[in-house]
Amino acid sequence: VKDKPLKGMKVVVTAGPTQEDLDPVRFMTNHSSGKMGYAVARAARNLGADVTLVTGPVSLRKPVFMDVVEVRTAIQMFEAVEALKDEYDILVKSAAVSDYRVERVSDHKMKKQGNQLTIDFVTNPDILAHMGQLKKANQVVCGFAMETQDLVENATKKLVNKGADLIVANQLNEDAAGFKKDTNVVTILTGEGITKLDVMSKEALGYEIMNRLLQILVKKRGI
Ligand code: C5P
Repeated sequence: VKDKPLKGMKVVVTAGPTQEDLDPVRFMTNHSSGKMGYAVARAARNLGADVTLVTGPVSLRKPVFMDVVEVRTAIQMFEAVEALKDEYDILVKSAAVSDYRVERVSDHKMKKQGNQLTIDFVTNPDILAHMGQLKKANQVVCGFAMETQDLVENATKKLVNKGADLIVANQLNEDAAGFKKDTNVVTILTGEGITKLDVMSKEALGYEIMNRLLQILVKKRGI
């Protein structure tokens, strides 16, 4: 089973954006395509893991030979991930979760009125931080960070504050990186150090991330 190093492991991956409703016809979302998370999920599956992909709405082909849980809102994603808290060996949180949701979703389509509109938002739960807190000693949690400035500094804070074992940090203002692209340029942060990787396809990066997470898992479990 040398080429299936994740055989017997349960991997949970979140991917894509969330949608936060304003009223029955409108929502707020972001530019996430889901490409990075789907590549991670496929890599985990191909390395032998039993994979659950919790995905926001994306226009990608639904992957086969894994469980796919489709959600829309951050709250739905939170509930889907939390339900798997005792089951996973490795959790990869690549979804771009909306930080805010509308405080009161209108039952009816909002009518145009006046020259200004004010909407109150409340913060969504931070799924990664929550799962980082619940994490057991033999589980591995990976988060992503997308920054436009002070990448390493901000990503280091996320590693610590969110209880993650590894953070994949994307610099948004690189040509070969970002939302809709098939390539990415990332820096990987763990408790052991910081590694800047060259530009690579999201497909190859999926394997790179899973292999590094497996190394952390092996080290934690002393296997
Ligand atoms: O703090 P920031 O949103 O930049 O952190 C990004 C990381 O946190 C990603 O791994 C993302 O999936 C996760 N996150 C989350 N729940 C939120 C916000 C972010 O799991 N509400």
